[in-house]
Amino acid sequence: MKVNVHGVELFCEDNGSGYPVLFVHGFPLTGDMWSDTVQRLGGGYRTIVPDLRGMGRSGVDGHVTMAEYADDLDSLLASADIHKQVAVVGLSMGGYIALEFFRRHRNRVGALGLIDTRAAPDTEEGAKNRERTAALVRENGPGVVADSMIEKIFAPEAPAALRDKWHGIMAGMDKQGTAAALVAMAYRPDSRPTLAAIDVPTLVVVGEHDAITPLAEARILHDGIKGSVLEIIPGAGHVPPVEQPDRFTGVLRSFLEGVRGQTLAA
Ligand code: MLT
Repeated sequence: MKVNVHGVELFCEDNGSGYPVLFVHGFPLTGDMWSDTVQRLGGGYRTIVPDLRGMGRSGVDGHVTMAEYADDLDSLLASADIHKQVAVVGLSMGGYIALEFFRRHRNRVGALGLIDTRAAPDTEEGAKNRERTAALVRENGPGVVADSMIEKIFAPEAPAALRDKWHGIMAGMDKQGTAAALVAMAYRPDSRPTLAAIDVPTLVVVGEHDAITPLAEARILHDGIKGSVLEIIPGAGHVPPVEQPDRFTGVLRSFLEGVRGQTLAA
C-alpha cells in the first residue's frame, strides 16, 4: 500500500493477521531486507514493513530527522488502523528510529527488537564525515555510499550474488533521500539515557562479524535494558536477516512467541 504521511507517500507492505510487528530497515536499504524474515515468521503475526521516506519506493523529502521518521511510523500505524501495541524491530538506523519511536510514542510499543544497532550518538568527527558524505551524494549520487557500505555490511563468507544484489539496491537509492538520512543520523539524539527507561520485552541481536555495530555496542544495549535478551547470530555481519535468514528468524520468532503469549494471557 501507499499512504500519504506528512506530505510524503510512504510505501508499506502490510500482511498477515495477529500480533502486529513493525519492521524498520537500515541505511541505505529498503523494507525488502525483511522479506526473508516475513516469509519465515509463520502465522499469528501482522507484519508492517515500510520503506522509510527518501528510500526505496517511498517519496522523497530533502530533509528528515529521527523524530520525523518516528512520527511517520506512528502515522502509518494509524492509517493501517492499528491502535494496539506493536513490536518494533529495527536494524541499525532502524534501531536508532525504534529508540526514538519508544521515546515519542511509548504507548504504542509492546516490545522492541534492536538488531545490529547502537545507543550512542555520532562523535563530532563522525557527524562531520556524514555531512561530507551527504554533500558528495547530493552531487554525484549514492554510488559512493553503496561502494563503501558493501565492503562493511556482510560477513566475509557472504556469497557474491548477495553482495551484487544489495550493491545494486544501495546504488539505486534516491540521492536526496540518502543524503537526508545521513544528516539525520549525524544529529540523532544520544539514546544511552533512554535504556534504563525501557520497560518492555527487548531482544538485542548482533551478527558475529558485524563490523559497523559490533558486539560491544550490543552489550551496551543489553546491559542497559533490564531483562533484555542478547543473541549473537553466527555467520552474519551487519545484516543477519539478509545473511542468515533461518537463524535470524528462529531467534526473532522465539522472542515474539513469548511476547505474543504474554499479550494473549494479559
Ligand atoms: C545502517 O546500517 O543503518 C547504518 O550503517 C548505520 C550507521 O551508519 O550508523
